[in-house]
Amino acid sequence: MEKEKIRNLEVCFSPANFPFYQNKEESIIVIVDILRATTAICTAFEHKVAKIIPVATLEETYKYKNSGFLIAGERDGKVIEGADFGNSPYNFMGNAVKNKTIVITTTNGTQAVEMAKNCLDIVIGSFLNLNALCEMLIKQNKDVLILCAGWKNRFNLEDSIFAGAVAEKLNNEANYSLNCDSAMASVDLWQIAKNNILDYIEKSSHRHRLKKLGLDDVLEYCFTPNITKTIPVFKENYFVEISKL
Ligand code: MLT
Repeated sequence: MEKEKIRNLEVCFSPANFPFYQNKEESIIVIVDILRATTAICTAFEHKVAKIIPVATLEETYKYKNSGFLIAGERDGKVIEGADFGNSPYNFMGNAVKNKTIVITTTNGTQAVEMAKNCLDIVIGSFLNLNALCEMLIKQNKDVLILCAGWKNRFNLEDSIFAGAVAEKLNNEANYSLNCDSAMASVDLWQIAKNNILDYIEKSSHRHRLKKLGLDDVLEYCFTPNITKTIPVFKENYFVEISKL
């Protein structure tokens, strides 16, 4: 019998490091921005948004606005001028998003998408779709590269512990090896955090940034696993639910 191929899982802690990863074309890229962009995007698809168009610059965002698109956007956590929504996952619920196309720009999440957008397979991960995401990755049986959005090209804790949750699952439940130090480190962090994530996340700088802005009402929600089975996948220049491909 042919020996089962061992797949690789790598973790990139910052978009700035992404160009140094060699295996991008053979990998499914999982973009992660737990506080709050990828949690918001998963929420939107759970609430039946039609498409999400991620854009990196304000200039491009306002071009879409002038063409009549709904826009969601934040910089440094604060809603951008003229936006229809900010970046709270609670904005992306119900009739506000159902069957709509929404353009989104954020400080880090959509910058990570920008870095990866020429790759073949890009999906969105968050605690909200953790199990569904891992099941899909295991089924696809390709290498996986988790791209943490971080904060302005710097490491952050919340994206890294999520990477650890995925890495642990794929390592324990499937034929994934963790061949990079950042994957190992993310699993170690996840081990420390997982029994009380909300306590652990008190160490996160963005958690405190959101608190100062009065925007931390979403904290518990952002760390709640498996609220949705939706998996947003990138096609051309937008995200769509994987089942709609
Ligand atoms: C981001 O993309 O930088 C974040 O989602 C920031 C936030 O809205 O909290």
